[in-house]
Amino acid sequence: MEITPKSQCVNRTASLSVFQETPLRLMSRQRVYNDEYNRDPNPEKMYLGSREYFAEDGEVWTLPVVRKVHRQILNDPTLCHDDTSVLGQSEFNRASTALILGSESIAIVEKRADSIQVPGGNGALFMAAQFLKRWFTITDPSSPAVYISEPCWETHVFTFQGAGFSDIRRYLYWDHEKLCLAIPQWLEDMENAPEYSIIVLQVAAHWPTAMDPTPAEWRQIAEVMKRKRLFPFFFVTAQGLATGDLNKDAFPVRHFVTERFELLCAQSYSKNFGLCGERVGSLTIVSRDNPSLIRIRSQLMLAARCTWSTPPHLGARIVATILNNPAFFAEWQANLRSMAERLMLVREKLAEELRTLGTLRPLNHIRRQIGLYMFADFKDSEIMYLKKRRHIYLTSIGQINMSLMNSQNLSYVARCISEAVQSGLATSETAQPAEL
Ligand SMILES: Cc1ncc(COP(=O)(O)O)c(C=O)c1O
Repeated sequence: MEITPKSQCVNRTASLSVFQETPLRLMSRQRVYNDEYNRDPNPEKMYLGSREYFAEDGEVWTLPVVRKVHRQILNDPTLCHDDTSVLGQSEFNRASTALILGSESIAIVEKRADSIQVPGGNGALFMAAQFLKRWFTITDPSSPAVYISEPCWETHVFTFQGAGFSDIRRYLYWDHEKLCLAIPQWLEDMENAPEYSIIVLQVAAHWPTAMDPTPAEWRQIAEVMKRKRLFPFFFVTAQGLATGDLNKDAFPVRHFVTERFELLCAQSYSKNFGLCGERVGSLTIVSRDNPSLIRIRSQLMLAARCTWSTPPHLGARIVATILNNPAFFAEWQANLRSMAERLMLVREKLAEELRTLGTLRPLNHIRRQIGLYMFADFKDSEIMYLKKRRHIYLTSIGQINMSLMNSQNLSYVARCISEAVQSGLATSETAQPAEL
């Protein structure tokens, strides 16, 4: 038998990595895009795809009420960096439940609703996906299908895949031809879904389309989902920032509660409090009865303990202080209204500029959009034109953060969009100025 010298064994083992089978994950389209922006040496370049709300002066806006409360917390001599509980601050959790469900909600009265504090909307999504994978057992032994809107925030797909769901399907949300929501196809997709599928529903300005169903359409969706025993998992993107009205934005969740659905609801406080960097969010549970709620909470507590131990303090303290103090709450609502109204105004101005320029493609649908973004449903060639020829970078699927439009740049951006559309249609003989 040939004996390998000991020194060779040691060397060969040392040169092997236990991670040698780990594949390189290609950068997402958005990251490639951001990278190109960072490397673009043109001093006039513009990035219009940011996640924050910017004021008219082009600076990220800290909501005045958030700034005030933050200062008050930091000046509090009793402030210490003690540990929170695993499921977060109880005053935050109570206020979060009331914010989304309404303080008079039947589910609160019947003690079958509660929230847990989590690090941002993505934290809520992660926790919900892990919990559903483990304890959504009605379809046992097979895993339930998860339906996510098409198009969607891709992280939602990755999070459910990461939790171990293998049957991830899409329901049609957007009609590219008619440039509106694909309600008939959406309802048909729900009709065809297996019973007890999990349906991810975005509320308060759908990402990326910036359009939500009307209350009447939500009622239709709830009717089909109830009949088909489909489980609603809501993701609330920015309550209050979509329409400027907290109650209007919460309508779909409250309607499903009235219809006596069991549900989970993830809430992000990143945009409506301007706290992207503080990681504040909540996961609300509405269960059949109080004993179920207690059991669900106990499992979430274990999951949270093994994941982040306790959620971060400061952002949640700011949110809880604002939600629980009537004067701060009123001020927050006024701040939200001013943001939402400015977004509507800017959107209207952009639509009007595009109309005046005789833009050769119908972009009228942007007038019906809500929230932070504008989704024109640009073609790839148009996004490319803006990037290569005008150094204007949108999100990779072509959204524009409306708060980044101001009196300095709106007309210029409108002209560039019009050019981009023209460039794509240059060869078409039939192109006519669009009716806006
Ligand atoms: C649809 C959607 N999913 C997930 C997130 C992530 O939320 P957060 O930044 O609070 O983690 C957002 C943020 O705006 C969102 O709009």
